[in-house]
Amino acid sequence: MATRLPYPLTLTGDGLVLRDWRAEDLDDLVALLDDPDIARWTPMTSPFDPEAGLAYLKRAHQGRISGRRIQLAITEDGGRPLGEVLLFGVDAANREAELGYLVGARHRRRGLASASLSLLSTYARSTLKLGRLLLRIDPANVASTAVARRCGYRLTGEAPILQFGPYGSSSLDTWELSGDRAATRLERLKNVAARRYGRRS
Ligand SMILES: CC(C)(COP(=O)(O)OP(=O)(O)OC[C@H]1O[C@@H](n2cnc3c(N)ncnc32)[C@H](O)[C@@H]1OP(=O)(O)O)[C@@H](O)C(=O)NCCC(=O)NCCS
Repeated sequence: MATRLPYPLTLTGDGLVLRDWRAEDLDDLVALLDDPDIARWTPMTSPFDPEAGLAYLKRAHQGRISGRRIQLAITEDGGRPLGEVLLFGVDAANREAELGYLVGARHRRRGLASASLSLLSTYARSTLKLGRLLLRIDPANVASTAVARRCGYRLTGEAPILQFGPYGSSSLDTWELSGDRAATRLERLKNVAARRYGRRS
């Protein structure tokens, strides 16, 4: 795979448009990220105020232009952001990378995280040629483990990673998507999403 991740980037499919963050997203970003579940399960600053939002957009932009990460707003039509999906920590030698996601509290339980993770995972495998995709999830995070499972990721036997954040410690399990299982599972999920949004792929 290329050592620099592509920028800019827009991924579309399953009724979603995943696009780069923009400066004018600041208010929506703050509304999405200033949330107790996000503070609990991610290393995000809390409370997440406009200052934190500005710093976040700046870091996201730097990560994008340097080609180190993919960090895309989840939208339905390229407009207002509803959440975020990321790919980072690329290990080019082993063709692996880590992914992450979050969805605003008002937009949850509509399949947005699963559809976004599925889109980015498919792109990572087919276009970036990454062979192994990883998620790190606290086992108590029921919603996130459900998303991982639904997208075909499976729990590995790797030792939990202890993470100390400002709001306590968490122990993160490693989930992976690799090999043929990934292709089969992602194809199935695509078909489910196409039915849900009333389209055929
Ligand atoms: C985790 C998160 C991204 C899920 O987003 P979402 O868009 O609501 O997820 P989806 O609608 O795609 O749900 C996928 C599956 O998870 C299940 N699920 C979602 N939220 C759930 C919850 N709170 N409890 C139980 N199951 C849940 C859904 O029912 C669905 O299962 P199904 O395949 O059986 O239908 C969202 O809750 C969130 O942003 N949480 C805070 C940040 C976070 O934890 N990020 C992940 C860090 S590892």
